[in-house]
Amino acid sequence: MEHDTKAILLAGGTGTRLFPLTQVVSKQLQPVYDKPMIYYPITVLIAAGIRDILIISTPQDLPRFRALLQDGSQWGVSFTFREQAEPRGIAEALIIGADFIGSSAVVLMLGDNIFSGGDDFARALSTFECGATIFAYHVKDPSRYGVIEFDQAGNALSIEEKPVRPKSAYAIPGVYIYDNRALEIARAIRPSARGELEITEVNREYMARGQLQVRRLRRGFAWLDAGTSSALHEASVYVENIEKRQGVKIGCPEEAALISGFLSMEGFRALVATMPNCEYREYLTGVAEERSGRFFED
Ligand code: G1P
Repeated sequence: MEHDTKAILLAGGTGTRLFPLTQVVSKQLQPVYDKPMIYYPITVLIAAGIRDILIISTPQDLPRFRALLQDGSQWGVSFTFREQAEPRGIAEALIIGADFIGSSAVVLMLGDNIFSGGDDFARALSTFECGATIFAYHVKDPSRYGVIEFDQAGNALSIEEKPVRPKSAYAIPGVYIYDNRALEIARAIRPSARGELEITEVNREYMARGQLQVRRLRRGFAWLDAGTSSALHEASVYVENIEKRQGVKIGCPEEAALISGFLSMEGFRALVATMPNCEYREYLTGVAEERSGRFFED
């Protein structure tokens, strides 16, 4: 599936909660088991058929992202890079990316959110028409997140950012699908007490306009957080367990590009040939062999 929706991947922030890990390496470049963290959200975007991706990071970290990701053509996508000079909030990414978005819809994704299991985002995107679509995921500690409350029919009743007393156990993960009106909404909101343009305010505005759709992510779906050093470690252990058990990788952009048709088998093999001898290359070589075989199910 392919469409002209654009995506913004926000990989900013100072990562203070991961100090001293983040003293010289950005949070979204930290390893999550066998790959840099940002590979995981990029893979989700590629799997959803998105080719045009704006990466936003701090002036200090942006050169490292450019070095890692290049222009994207190696994966059949296009990366654009922009700075967020100060950590002024997630919603500011919409303002920074305004000319990149132009008149299209946008998927805003956070570079530290790790997802696995299912095509919920791709399906939400393929049926998206207008307004905003956000997601809800049952968690044990909702007060760390944006929290959404539902009525009995499943309609959104309220959205609160990091409430001390959460009204539900449903947190809002860092993937937001917006129509073009998000730009005008983001420009109109004012900074919160912590000095940030909160994405929760954008979502609230869509809710007030009656244009907010919320999709619940199923039980089997994994949304992992990498906000603290133990959450980062747990995410690594999770990825390691699944990969070892199944022999398939989570967060592998090359493989997603092949499945999405962004890379031909020939292009994929040529890319793998440029890699050093390592477990990652071995895995991708196996993917090429398996996919060239008689039967394969994604
Ligand atoms: C941000 C959002 C929050 C959302 C979370 C998802 O929080 O403000 O609503 O639930 O991302 O990761 P932050 O990570 O900036 O504290």
